[in-house]
Amino acid sequence: MEKIRVGVVGTGFIGGKHIEAIARIPQAELVAITDSSAARIQEVAERYQVHGYQSVEEMLDRESLDVVHNCTPTSMHYFVNEKVLLAHKHLYCEKPLALDAAEGEKLQQLAERQGVANGVNLNYRMNALVQHMHDLVQDGQAGRSFLVTGSYIQDWMMMQDDYDWRLDPKVGGVSRAIADIGSHLFDTCQFVLGKRITAVNAHLTVVHPIRCQYEKAQTFSKEKGRLLREAPVVNEDAASIMARFEDGTEGLFQVSQISAGHKNDMRLRFDFERCSYEWRQEESNLLYIGHRDEPNQILQREAAALSPRARRFTGLPAGHPEGWNDALYQAVNAFYQSILTDTWRQETPYATIAEGAWIMKIIDACLASGKQGRWIDVATGGAV
Ligand SMILES: NC(=O)c1ccc[n+]([C@@H]2O[C@H](COP(=O)([O-])OP(=O)(O)OC[C@H]3O[C@@H](n4cnc5c(N)ncnc54)[C@H](O)[C@@H]3O)[C@@H](O)[C@H]2O)c1
Repeated sequence: MEKIRVGVVGTGFIGGKHIEAIARIPQAELVAITDSSAARIQEVAERYQVHGYQSVEEMLDRESLDVVHNCTPTSMHYFVNEKVLLAHKHLYCEKPLALDAAEGEKLQQLAERQGVANGVNLNYRMNALVQHMHDLVQDGQAGRSFLVTGSYIQDWMMMQDDYDWRLDPKVGGVSRAIADIGSHLFDTCQFVLGKRITAVNAHLTVVHPIRCQYEKAQTFSKEKGRLLREAPVVNEDAASIMARFEDGTEGLFQVSQISAGHKNDMRLRFDFERCSYEWRQEESNLLYIGHRDEPNQILQREAAALSPRARRFTGLPAGHPEGWNDALYQAVNAFYQSILTDTWRQETPYATIAEGAWIMKIIDACLASGKQGRWIDVATGGAV
């Protein structure tokens, strides 16, 4: 393979960021895009001088691609992923993997049968300091794990007239805050601990049971246009989740899209026998290490401060902050490097479809728990 030939499906907010990440990888080349909007196809194809197609089928038919990125709204994930896998292309899909656990399981089986590299863009784990934390924990330096506490809170859905496709359960899914941002919390914490979440007890909240839907409302946009309708809201604005990991560690998570002043505020704290680690997405170059009997530490990201394995995931010297875009680039790059070196069947630093499918089970378990008011076993979907 001379250069990895890439196609992108869906060129909205995150699709644009994937395209920028691809441009940073010399061994890859964006060759085609598709979107449901004709105007967007034309605009993006012209801007990047690539072929624009009307559908994923047409793109797969006409182009000789190695990798396809699926950056469509959640309801389209299964449809597009299935087409890409059946065409034997390597697949990099946005989170959440699918609409529910049943779709996730089918995709996992299909990916295994087709024998192609597969990744889900659970990008927060690709921050260098998160990879470093993972290595510290896996090396046993922190000792036994006690507690995990995580919150991911935003305010872009705070007002009654904030609207987006995620509010429509047919497009965004029956879960909103948990699927949209809880999926990141679950993945990053599972990755650091190296343990799965096996049971949850969740309470879900809707603060605006009716929202105003506007013509031009879209992801993170303040543009509204004319009022289309008053829409009943069925998926959650926020949730509080107790969780149990497979080694018995207790977890406590909060997700919210209605918390004023918090933009993309993801915070994680891991309490261990010998120390604690705390990391915040909006200050992603710092890792707080807490001690009981010696001074606390703040570790600033730089290659020399990281485990030899985690050094691969940083590019800039200390004091030159790396951020959200860099973690996304690291995720896409790690995926491509695993294709180029044919190592994608081994343990990967990025999340695979199998991991994305487990997260779908956690989301479904949270929904069941919210309805039934009790602990739910993630594997079976039944009461614990
Ligand atoms: N990993 C992250 O941090 C992150 C951040 C934002 C969004 N996402 C995920 O990315 C996905 C897209 O979200 P977004 O915020 O970019 O949404 P968006 O609305 O900004 O973009 C979606 C794009 O897909 C296009 N589209 C819709 N239906 C399509 C179809 N059938 N075929 C091709 N294109 C289609 C739309 O025209 C639009 O251009 C979602 O699954 C979301 O959960 C992930």
